[in-house]
Amino acid sequence: MTAPARVHLIAAARPNFMKVAPLWHALTAAPDFEPVLIHTGQHYDPNMSDAIFADLSLPPPHHHLGVGSGSHAEQTGNVMIAYEQIALAERPDWLIVVGDVNSTLACALVGAKLRIPVVHLEAGLRSGDRAMPEEINRLATDAIADVLWTPSPDGDENLLREGCDPARITNVGNIMLDSFELVRGKIAAAAEPAALGLPERYGVVTLHRPSNVDHPFALGALVAALVVAQARLPLVFPVHPRTAQRLATMGLDKRLAQHGVVLTDPLPYVRFMSLVAGSAAAITDSGGIQEETTYLGIPCLTLRDNTERPITITQGTNRLVTSDTLAAALDQALATPRSAQPRPVHWDGQTAARCVADLRRRNA
Ligand code: UD1
Repeated sequence: MTAPARVHLIAAARPNFMKVAPLWHALTAAPDFEPVLIHTGQHYDPNMSDAIFADLSLPPPHHHLGVGSGSHAEQTGNVMIAYEQIALAERPDWLIVVGDVNSTLACALVGAKLRIPVVHLEAGLRSGDRAMPEEINRLATDAIADVLWTPSPDGDENLLREGCDPARITNVGNIMLDSFELVRGKIAAAAEPAALGLPERYGVVTLHRPSNVDHPFALGALVAALVVAQARLPLVFPVHPRTAQRLATMGLDKRLAQHGVVLTDPLPYVRFMSLVAGSAAAITDSGGIQEETTYLGIPCLTLRDNTERPITITQGTNRLVTSDTLAAALDQALATPRSAQPRPVHWDGQTAARCVADLRRRNA
């Protein structure tokens, strides 16, 4: 019997963990694979990391690179230096990177240069906006990865348009929703809205994109728009550390609280999804929440000029808004009765199984 194929699975930042967990569990259950979990340490606050690992029944990582925060070059470079040591020592048969964070690109670069076959899970997404650091990470990772696992057909189309060999591409579907299904029962039992004292109808807010929170003018306008929205729909806002720093510097956290917005620390996955699942609407600049609300049929107002997830608009519940158009869009979303929409193809909680089947086929 041949030895199982060793697979390095890279986890780095909050949105990665929901993509890694289902794959970790599926690879662990497969006798022909030996997964090794590596955490780069890009996110390190307990609620941004350890608590989500616990929610998704991920074990402590085999390797923790402890890289932490820094400029883009520092973070990317430090992950490369640290991961290279492990890749050289363990020489995995496969390296799987997920999403679009700095650690995704850093590890993909290391793998490609060591000629370790690299798989990118969540390949092909494009916002067309190179001012977003994630867009650079996506373009560069997809250019050097050997296998491109896409979440939706627009991902395949983008890659083919860029001249990618179709043999590299497999549409596996949206793995985030595997995580939702994995802990659906726990999410239903969490009762987070009641624990936070929220009324029956409320909205969930998240903001962390540099384009929204790093510029005082943009952040001030967004906070003013949230105050107006709060008068229509009581809001709960789990605040990302980056955003918390900026709000506190400008005294805007107090302003939101004075108007009744419930501010919390970032929440672990189950508690956060309990909030989203019970909400009347989400107001966000996150990528994952655009997808989760599409899956759940909840209106999502995305505070961005573009999205790398257009399927959430064409087939889902998502709409792009600005601080100027938020209030009217919220009125419209709340006035529109919800209708059951068919979910995008392969957004079904079975993506990890398709990933393992594809890896097995390519491994043979
Ligand atoms: C990163 C990803 C982004 C993803 C987001 C999800 C990149 C380029 N960006 O952005 O794509 O949507 O994660 O959250 O990879 N900080 C803490 N504790 C932590 C992590 C960060 O306090 O656990 C603070 C630090 O001050 C840090 C800042 O937040 O400098 C920003 O963190 P960073 O990892 O650079 O980027 P994110 O904004 O989290």
